[in-house]
Amino acid sequence: MSRVSKIISLSLAAIIGATVVYAQSTQEELNAAVELRHTNMKTRGANIGVLAKMAQGETPYDAAAASTAAAALLAAVSVDQTPFWLPGSENGMANDSFAAPAVWTNSADFEAKSAAMITAAEAMNAAAGVDLAALQAALPAVGAGCGGCHELYKIPEN
Ligand code: HEC
Repeated sequence: MSRVSKIISLSLAAIIGATVVYAQSTQEELNAAVELRHTNMKTRGANIGVLAKMAQGETPYDAAAASTAAAALLAAVSVDQTPFWLPGSENGMANDSFAAPAVWTNSADFEAKSAAMITAAEAMNAAAGVDLAALQAALPAVGAGCGGCHELYKIPEN
């Protein structure tokens, strides 16, 4: 083999190798994706918790704290989620994953639910700092955004 064709075939091997790695994540990468999405989901949970407690009168309404929580919720639902939902990281395939296989087999609807979540969080972000009534009015759509997705795409944990 000439030097040039050797270089060409080595680069081809590298390109093909890279493609395989890209298409099929390692177990470590799958586990890491689950951790990423859990951290993001917990941030959502913590911030909707702050808003729900105010809505229900468990804690006093505080415009500044409500705005902070709504902004953090909006940020969490708006991040690029591509790294979270690596194909192959469904329940049974990666540590602690409770994602249903439908996340990937029904991805158009899953993405539509993610987009609707952003719309609801935007409305909450606009309302939370106005007054308690505005916060209360915005909360059901946010809750439905979480619950509507979990119902179809999150396997119950027990
Ligand atoms: C588009 C779909 C979708 C939306 C919208 C969504 N979630 Fe999730 N959520 C999931 C899936 C799927 C899982 C399971 C992930 C896993 O275990 O791998 C999950 C898991 C969780 C968990 C468990 C995390 C853990 O550490 O086990 C919490 C808490 C959570 N979501 C809160 C929320 C809250 C609060 C909202 C709304 C503000 C929300 N989610 C909106 C799909 C969604």
